Amino acid sequence: MLLTEIDHVAIAVKDLEAAIDYYKRAFGATVTHREVVDQDGVEEALLKVAQSYVQLLTPTRPDSPVAKSLEKRGEGLHHVGYRVADCAAALESMVAAGATPIDKTPRKGSRGTTVAFIHPKGSFGTLIELVQE
Ligand code: CO
Repeated sequence: MLLTEIDHVAIAVKDLEAAIDYYKRAFGATVTHREVVDQDGVEEALLKVAQSYVQLLTPTRPDSPVAKSLEKRGEGLHHVGYRVADCAAALESMVAAGATPIDKTPRKGSRGTTVAFIHPKGSFGTLIELVQE
């Protein structure tokens, strides 16, 4: 089994501050990491849950993929991050199994991780992110 943990569940929101405030009031959650990822045009806030995270995600520019997703599908579940020991090996395994990669090779993700995204088409409708810490 290549997956070692659910790294994060990413939820696209229009108002990051309102979403953080809601998770604080509803769950007593605290933000453990916050980052603007310029390459992806997003700002994210991570709320730690055991060894995983809830990742609240909002676009920082109108042409970012998350902005387009919000426009098309509205707020809600955007992708699931699966933690792996070796992102390149997991990507190769997924492609061999028929997955359509968005990233042909692993790249830099937030909080110093190495990541690769897999298209929902061919993965039963879920945008998958492979995350190596
Ligand atoms: Co992610």
